[in-house]
Amino acid sequence: RKHLLGLADVSKEEISLILDTAEAMKEVFTRKVKKVPTLTGKTVVSFFFEPSTRTKASFDLAGKMLSANMLSLSGSSSSVAKGESLIDTGKTLEAMGADIIVIRHSAPGAPHLLARYVNASIINAGDGAHEHPTQALLDMFTIKEKKGRIEGLNVLIVGDILHSRVARSNIFGLKTMGANVRVVGPATLIPKDLKNLGVEVYYSLDEALKGADVVNILRIQRERQKKGLFPSIREYHRFYGMNERIISLLKDDVLILHPGPMNQGVEIDPIIALDDRAVIEEQVTNGVAVRMALFYLLAGRGNQNEKIN
Ligand code: CP
Repeated sequence: RKHLLGLADVSKEEISLILDTAEAMKEVFTRKVKKVPTLTGKTVVSFFFEPSTRTKASFDLAGKMLSANMLSLSGSSSSVAKGESLIDTGKTLEAMGADIIVIRHSAPGAPHLLARYVNASIINAGDGAHEHPTQALLDMFTIKEKKGRIEGLNVLIVGDILHSRVARSNIFGLKTMGANVRVVGPATLIPKDLKNLGVEVYYSLDEALKGADVVNILRIQRERQKKGLFPSIREYHRFYGMNERIISLLKDDVLILHPGPMNQGVEIDPIIALDDRAVIEEQVTNGVAVRMALFYLLAGRGNQNEKIN
C-alpha cells in the first residue's frame, strides 16, 4: 500500500499489521529513546488546512522519532492563499523531495486528489466529514491494548455521527475487525445509510449503553453543521451528554474513549472524562505510536536504516 486515504478499503490483515507495528513503536516511544534512524534521508511534509493539536503534533513527533526531515505548512500561510492549486502545491512539495505528505483538509476527497497527481505517499489526517483513518487506528489500538481484542466487542459511538470523520473511519475499521458497532444520537445527526454498513442505530442513550464494552464519545462538529438543523447544545447535553446520570448504566469494565478535542459540559462532563475507565490521554500517546507505524510501513521498510532498536 502506498497511501492511507481511508479505512473503507483496508483489509483486516493490513489493520492487524499496522496495530502490531504500532505496538513495537510504542515500546520505542515510551522508552524515550531520543531517535531511531528508520527514516533517515526521508522527508515528510505535514500540510494542514484545518486546526489541529493532537494529529499534527503527533505526526510531527512520530516523524522526528524516526529521524525523518519534517516540514510543516498550514493552508493559510502557504501560497494556496495566493491562488495556487492543491495539485500544484503537492508537486512543489514533491520537487523538494517530499516522500510522504500528511494532509488535513476541509474538502472530502482532497487527499485522494493529491494521491492521483503526486508520487509521494499521502496520509489522510482528516478530510471534511469523510474519513480520519489514523484516529480510528489509534482508537482500535487503544481498544486492543486495553481489552486484548476487538472482535466481538460491543462498541458504541455517541453523538454527531453525521458530521464525524472519526465515526466513519471507526465504523469501517471496527466492522472489518469484527466488532459489533452501535451508534446513538439525535435523528438529525445520524446518517441514513448506516444500517447498510451493519451498524445498529439507537436514539436512546440509555438503551444504547446496555452491554456496551467501549463507548467512544464524539464532539459536536458545530463548524460543519447547518443552522437550525440540530438540537440546541442544552438539549443535546440533556439527552446525549455523558454525565453523572449515566454512570450507573456503564459496565464496570467499560472503556471510555474520546478523540478530542473535548467540549466538557457538552458531550462529556468532567466526571466522565476523569473516570478511571476513561483512556483519553492514553489515546493521544497511542496516536504517536500508530503514526510512527504508518511512516515505517509506508516509507521505512527497505530503507538502509530500517532496523528499529
Ligand atoms: N482528534 C483529532 O483529530 O484532534 P485534533 O483536531 O486536535 O488533531
